[in-house]
Amino acid sequence: MTVDFERAREETLKYHKAYYSRFKLFEDGSWLAHPDAPLMQLLNYLEGNIKILDLGCGVGRNAIPMAQALQKLGKEATITCVDVLAESIDLLSEYAVTYKVEDIIDPVLADNDNFVMAKSHYDLIAAISTLEHCQGKDRVVAVMREIAGSTKSAGFVRIEMTTDRNVIDAASGEAIATFVETPLLGEEVEEMLSLAFAGWNVIGKTIDPYEETIEKEGRSVHWCSTQINFTAQKP
Ligand SMILES: C[S@@+](CC[C@H](N)C(=O)[O-])C[C@H]1O[C@@H](n2cnc3c(N)ncnc32)[C@H](O)[C@@H]1O
Repeated sequence: MTVDFERAREETLKYHKAYYSRFKLFEDGSWLAHPDAPLMQLLNYLEGNIKILDLGCGVGRNAIPMAQALQKLGKEATITCVDVLAESIDLLSEYAVTYKVEDIIDPVLADNDNFVMAKSHYDLIAAISTLEHCQGKDRVVAVMREIAGSTKSAGFVRIEMTTDRNVIDAASGEAIATFVETPLLGEEVEEMLSLAFAGWNVIGKTIDPYEETIEKEGRSVHWCSTQINFTAQKP
């Protein structure tokens, strides 16, 4: 399948910019309502001066609650939050002040594809619904390898990716383009994960179907995809 990367990136930025201005962090009825529960659970296993990396952090759906939880436990921590969209980083910085965790949150405007990750540096790396926005399969593989190399021994990764996108006009059945930068099949992502994290202790891997019918540009659209959720600990 050929992908118009520029168009896909433009659509990604447009969608997220509009979403973050329409819905506030933790707003009910939005996907910003709650943090990722399995990611939050990993905090219980982190000790010392904790370093977390949140790739494609958005406006802090996960980073702000993680910072609050660590602050409450009295733990010293830094959460480096990377997003390619300036509006994400601006809003994240504002929410960090609102929720009084600005000392823990370190916002970085950068592209995951080019973000340099120090070796064996992080206790936990999260990449939630963001690696499918890398520029091509080779970059997805390269970023996964960087994540693996940048995690400390006994540290954790939590990766979620949307695969197998199939979007049709609900009335006519006509296929509708979704413009993701790197459309992937579930089996491709499974193979990428098993290679990048070979020898790791896989704590959880779920593959969940997702379906919804939404109104888009005046027509009823049926969205069908698969979500891969992967949690692993480095030996
Ligand atoms: C579906 S949102 C998820 C946000 C957050 N991880 C969460 O779970 O709430 C995807 C985020 O990834 C960001 N993003 C997309 N492509 C990116 C890239 N190449 N580098 C960094 N961030 C990216 C988007 O701007 C958006 O904020």
